[in-house]
Amino acid sequence: KPWTSAERYRAYADYSPEFIADLTTAVASSAYKNTYHIQPKTGLLNDPNGFSYFNGKYHLFYQVFPYGPVHGLKSWALMTSTDLIHWTDEGLKLFPDTVFDSHGAYSGSALALSDDELFIFYTGNTRGTDGSRDAYQNGAIYSKSGDVQKFDAPLLRTPAGYTDHFRDPMIFDANGQKFAIIGAQTCDEAGVAVLAQATDDSLTSWDYRGQVQFTQEKMGYMIECPNLVFIDQKAVLLFCPQGLDKSIVDYDNVFPNMYVIAESLDTESVTLTQPSALHNLDDGFEAYATQAFNAPDGRVLASSWLGLPDLDVPSNVDGWQGMLSLVKELTLKNGQLYQYPVVETLALRHDQQVINLSEVSFTIGTNSYELEIEVTEDNELYLFADADNSSHLSLKIDVKNGKIELNRANLPVSWAENYGTTRSTHVAPGKVKLNLFADTSSLEIFVNDGEKVMSSRIFTAPENTYLFAKNSLSANVWQLKK
Ligand code: FRU
Repeated sequence: KPWTSAERYRAYADYSPEFIADLTTAVASSAYKNTYHIQPKTGLLNDPNGFSYFNGKYHLFYQVFPYGPVHGLKSWALMTSTDLIHWTDEGLKLFPDTVFDSHGAYSGSALALSDDELFIFYTGNTRGTDGSRDAYQNGAIYSKSGDVQKFDAPLLRTPAGYTDHFRDPMIFDANGQKFAIIGAQTCDEAGVAVLAQATDDSLTSWDYRGQVQFTQEKMGYMIECPNLVFIDQKAVLLFCPQGLDKSIVDYDNVFPNMYVIAESLDTESVTLTQPSALHNLDDGFEAYATQAFNAPDGRVLASSWLGLPDLDVPSNVDGWQGMLSLVKELTLKNGQLYQYPVVETLALRHDQQVINLSEVSFTIGTNSYELEIEVTEDNELYLFADADNSSHLSLKIDVKNGKIELNRANLPVSWAENYGTTRSTHVAPGKVKLNLFADTSSLEIFVNDGEKVMSSRIFTAPENTYLFAKNSLSANVWQLKK
């Protein structure tokens, strides 16, 4: 039953211990729970937030509504890790508890100021009694001891010319100065990303600098979750345009997650110089709100929400929705963006087997594994299949045309069909290398070491762990540690 607005914005304190205990039990026993990914303990997870390195640990927060699988009153939950694969759940950290974030501590970013202080820049969502929205760009300090101290007043107000769809500040460093890129909608309903600049070292005061120039085209009616990172000196913009005309760039998901590679960010003219064409960041069914940051070790690290706005997900029946992708490293090769699970992910592997996939069923008894294959002839793989392969996810590899097509139509649980049941990606014809990270209800496919990525949620029965191939081929398979 759909949640009313009043139910979505109910105070957390109004949920009884019994309600929470029942929900926790339902989620804990969900057959869709993944084994080596970040997912909510209860309720709905969406965007990765505040991905940063602080006090000797990676900090990865995420948007969460803890009391049901809907977009309700959002907080930030925190996970920490020293190796990007073993994560500790630190619980909820940033709550919607002031007049400037009463209806949600929305997405944002974080940057360590010192070993003691992590600066958080986030959007406070508020609603008037008439349902009208007001957005504030707020700040907080997360300290080493785990406390959050919010600044008394918003750090940036919405400048003239923009609607209340103004959110998701992502802080970054350029030429020794602190900037933030923010998603926005202009009053004439165009999606833009704007630049703000900190005017003091404590980051309590910010100036609006203007719209970031990177395309002549209209970026739909809104841009969410813009990010700017620097890879090999180049400025890479990741962003989520909503309502983008498909004649500008084609995409299949309700909203795409895209990127542009530029020579540099000219902070004077607020321009991404010599921008590339727009590209889809991920060619799978569900990837959105990717957050990336320049980590102190020189890598650019990213995580995506394996979900999309406005979707009913089959795990809703168990009281939860949404998960984060593996942590990926972003690199540039021959001018192209590559995304691949961080090298630390290799430590999840155990019990390697060299297998032969064919029309004869094969299983390791679980849907949590990494499969590595090199395909030199056209083939079709079937994963998440039942024992006689009448139900499966199919992956068609057309080597001659360099086309890879994922088809979700033949699985027992159907959902999100309005957006089609196939997704495809293209690479150069010839040999194709695939690394597939399957987890109970997800699949992240990395083509040619990260040249293309397809990330999706997959829902099937727990016993459907079989793999088949139309034409026999050998593969490596590893189980992955929980
Ligand atoms: C993207 C988004 C952000 C917003 C957050 C709210 O998925 O809509 O723009 O800050 O989710 O949870």
